[in-house]
Amino acid sequence: MGAGASTQSSAEIAARLQSAYATDPKEFASIFESLSEADQSKVNKLLETESAAAAPAAAPAAAAAAPVDTAEDTSDVFTSNRHVAIVGGGAVGANTAFCIATAKIGHGRLTITDIAADMLEGQVMDMEDTGMHCAAATPKEAGQADVIIITAGRGLRDGETRLDCLKSNYGILKSIVGGLAPIKKSAVIIVVSNPCDILAYFVWKFSGLPEQQVIGSGTYLDTVRLRASVASIVQMTPDSIHYNMLGEHGDAMFPATSLATIAGVPLMNWPGMDKVDMVKLEEDTRIKGRLIREKKGATSFGIATSCKNITEAILQNKRRVLPLSVKIPGEEAFLSLPCVVGSKGIHQIVDVTPHLTPDELKLWKECVEKISSQVKDVAASF
Ligand SMILES: NC(=O)c1ccc[n+]([C@@H]2O[C@H](COP(=O)([O-])OP(=O)(O)OC[C@H]3O[C@@H](n4cnc5c(N)ncnc54)[C@H](O)[C@@H]3O)[C@@H](O)[C@H]2O)c1
Repeated sequence: MGAGASTQSSAEIAARLQSAYATDPKEFASIFESLSEADQSKVNKLLETESAAAAPAAAPAAAAAAPVDTAEDTSDVFTSNRHVAIVGGGAVGANTAFCIATAKIGHGRLTITDIAADMLEGQVMDMEDTGMHCAAATPKEAGQADVIIITAGRGLRDGETRLDCLKSNYGILKSIVGGLAPIKKSAVIIVVSNPCDILAYFVWKFSGLPEQQVIGSGTYLDTVRLRASVASIVQMTPDSIHYNMLGEHGDAMFPATSLATIAGVPLMNWPGMDKVDMVKLEEDTRIKGRLIREKKGATSFGIATSCKNITEAILQNKRRVLPLSVKIPGEEAFLSLPCVVGSKGIHQIVDVTPHLTPDELKLWKECVEKISSQVKDVAASF
């Protein structure tokens, strides 16, 4: 056995692997591949638990010294070394990086890419102080990541709609996707930049990836807000409330109240829910992002946690159902529906539209119409 697994402990082999990962990817792959299946599995387990401690020293050195070459990319050798790249290191990107770094969701390399070089260096230095691994990456390196989270661009300004924001962010995302090329074939891209439905559509077009590998964060954050409001009414954890915001991540989104349940009981039959002002509940959810922006300048913790959860579902192949913005079959639009999320990105879109009430279905159709026509306008004008 090339790596001498019979005479060395798994920990020693893991240490050799970690060291090879930092200095010589080919050597790393060769040691790992020379192990028996049983030893590979032992090492996998060890690295899954120990890599968080070992990686901080190793991975930044690798990032600085040797830009990732597609041919030598070993990031798929075991799950704990998969690369998560965040493009855009502002409020959302930096918080997403911090959230992922602290959560230990099965990633190995964590990088941030930004055009603001000084700020990026500051983010990486600040993260170093936590003892966790995070490096700066070039756009090309980010393109070789397993999960690429795009948070670049600017946020909404006072009095501006998400569409005004689109004009600036469309150009930024087009150049970003160009800079990522050639994008790793199996990469999953999560588009957070707003307006995320329209931008996710164009990132899908620019990237050439299959549609199930491009996801907009969509109404996930809005759903979290909606569930939190209901949770405080029924005195329960939000996780136990199955209630989704659907459609556009924007003014036209709507809560799928007729499909909402707690422990299988329709939400509106739950004791006390008949007294809740559902119009206010929906409106509070819709305006919460704006209120946060007015008070602190940006929304970041909630969206960072959403990005971490989506990434975790991908890296751990969780097949978790999340409301996300996806290419709607038969339409030129990305909009949010519940989706099964796993290692390939979107494994299934749960088409709940046949189960909506006529009023909800009307709102869904308005979202489809709105976003498809905006996509058409953008495609014609840029
Ligand atoms: N989808 C959601 O639920 C949701 C929630 C919150 C924010 N957002 C959106 O996320 C985006 C980022 O928000 P923010 O508050 O972090 O903004 P921010 O201004 O703090 O950060 C944006 C970063 O993008 C960088 N950038 C600009 N052009 C770039 C390029 N070509 N390559 C790499 N980096 C580039 C900037 O230098 C900046 O650091 C906005 O569009 C915002 O509307 C979406």
